[in-house]
Amino acid sequence: MIVVASANGAEALEVAWTVLEDGGSALDAVEAAARVVEDDPRDHSVGTGGYPNLLGQVELDASIMEGTTRRFGGVAALQGFRHPISVARAVMERLPHVLVVGAGAASLAAEIGAETAELLTPEAEAAWRDGLARSPAGLTGAVLAQVQALSTNPEHVAGTVDFLALDRDGHIASAVSTSGWAWKWPGRVGDSPIPGAGNYCDDRFGAAACTGFGELALRTQTARTVVNGLASGLDVAAAGRAALEDLFALGEPADRIVMNTVALDRNGNHAGLTTEPGARYAWRDESSGGVQLATRIVVRPDPA
Ligand code: GLY
Repeated sequence: MIVVASANGAEALEVAWTVLEDGGSALDAVEAAARVVEDDPRDHSVGTGGYPNLLGQVELDASIMEGTTRRFGGVAALQGFRHPISVARAVMERLPHVLVVGAGAASLAAEIGAETAELLTPEAEAAWRDGLARSPAGLTGAVLAQVQALSTNPEHVAGTVDFLALDRDGHIASAVSTSGWAWKWPGRVGDSPIPGAGNYCDDRFGAAACTGFGELALRTQTARTVVNGLASGLDVAAAGRAALEDLFALGEPADRIVMNTVALDRNGNHAGLTTEPGARYAWRDESSGGVQLATRIVVRPDPA
């Protein structure tokens, strides 16, 4: 058994680990952990306290996947609900669908009795007002300014939380939750709720999830690329490296390639990879004696 997370999920990993130790499923473990981060107003990339879109509305994306059947549930641009990850699970378990967005996702949340919340905290609102004040005139100018800011403040632009778990029965699950880009275009959907882009798992091989500039993972199917690498026999580090190296063939300037992935194989081997030196990830298993933080492997383009 093991649980793996992006570094901002470290504080929630003990919750996930307790679920597994008590005999719970990988699916229950990753959902429980994501709910903890969604409630943390200090994390401006997820749930309550997340940075809003251009109009000051907090729009949440989340997804959950179970690797036995590869069922997947996602919500996007969901406003006003405390735990998008649980609404995503309801998409997977209660509807014959994979992805539900916007008002439809909110209808489902209301239908299942999900708790509403004021997601925009005073701190996030103040940052939004300040960010808009410093942006070039017009709404599109503000979005473009965020793209320019990627290389200097990627966390601010595209933070997210990832959880991967392997339970005692050998089942794997993965969960991702995010408020997406700060000041994003209203209705913008990132990689987090899209199967294969920001989240993917398969019991036969392993799991991967992403944080970073979601548009890149959407274009290259980064999470699925990692799992494909595991399926072809690569180890977790090599599979993650291959997925991030693929981003450098997109024709984008190297300083606009901001991506992180966590990877877990079906035997419990794990790795974190990043395009940003210094980034970390977190993990917990029977032998670790608590949650551990590890340095991610840095992947940069080869110098020409
Ligand atoms: N990776 C999160 C997002 O771009 O929305």
